[in-house]
Amino acid sequence: MPNARMRFDGKVALITGGNAGIGLAAGHAFAGQGAKVMIAARRSAEGEQAVAEILQAGGEAAFVATDVTSSASVQAMVAACIARFGRLDVAFNNAGIPGDVTTDIADADEDTFERVMAVNVRGVWLSMKYEIPEILKAGGGAIVNCSSFAGLRGGPRSSAYYASKHAVLGMTKSVALEYAARNIRVNAVCPGLIMTDLITSGFANAQEKLAMLTARIPMQRVGLPEEVANAVLWLASPESSFVNGAALPVDGATSV
Ligand SMILES: NC(=O)c1ccc[n+]([C@@H]2O[C@H](COP(=O)([O-])OP(=O)(O)OC[C@H]3O[C@@H](n4cnc5c(N)ncnc54)[C@H](O)[C@@H]3O)[C@@H](O)[C@H]2O)c1
Repeated sequence: MPNARMRFDGKVALITGGNAGIGLAAGHAFAGQGAKVMIAARRSAEGEQAVAEILQAGGEAAFVATDVTSSASVQAMVAACIARFGRLDVAFNNAGIPGDVTTDIADADEDTFERVMAVNVRGVWLSMKYEIPEILKAGGGAIVNCSSFAGLRGGPRSSAYYASKHAVLGMTKSVALEYAARNIRVNAVCPGLIMTDLITSGFANAQEKLAMLTARIPMQRVGLPEEVANAVLWLASPESSFVNGAALPVDGATSV
């Protein structure tokens, strides 16, 4: 019996921050549904490892070392994707950092604010800016930006992070309007607390903090990277063809 057609056969998906956590899970999920996956992130060893795992599983993938805060690097990322796979249909702009999530604003460090904004806001803005011309050349496609439950509500001691994730939603809605009539949909996924390095490395007493945060989640558990990846695939696929400019929470009702 021939293989059933997969959701992303013939498509190319670019994932920033695709060598770890949510981005890595998305890479596996896209490749498992037939996409050729370009993984873009800073750390090359982890990036090459991610590619090796996807190839091992029978998928197709490549890695390009990228710093999303740099325009030259983002342009090189898109160029590498086209050079390798010839087109770009889907982008998951996922790279992000938490910065300092333990300090009230009066004591917060200005350099950390700048760094969080550079990665989480400028990085998404630059990514969309240079991805969109190639997605247009491919006849249209879909962008999914990674916001957070922190883009949907406020939270103490993390003002830079919360501001950056609100900004991701502002850009998502604005760019969705710009390209709505040109066959590019732009949506955002808003993960809740997801079990990745990002949450365990951000705190001094990681396990203790995790237990405290988990108790505040209505579903009484953290999410898995694969649960976010499933939502990203849906937003990037024709199954969500009339969903545009949306912010989809994947957070066990945290933002309700
Ligand atoms: N884990 C959570 O609980 C959670 C919750 C809400 C939102 N998010 C968001 O999900 C996204 C992925 O986070 P994660 O939890 O998988 O964390 P992670 O730390 O495992 O992954 C972050 C990825 O971003 C990459 N990255 C960071 N700075 C970069 C830069 N300048 N250039 C290129 N790549 C860069 C890292 O290399 C890594 O691949 C982030 O945007 C994060 O804010 C995570």
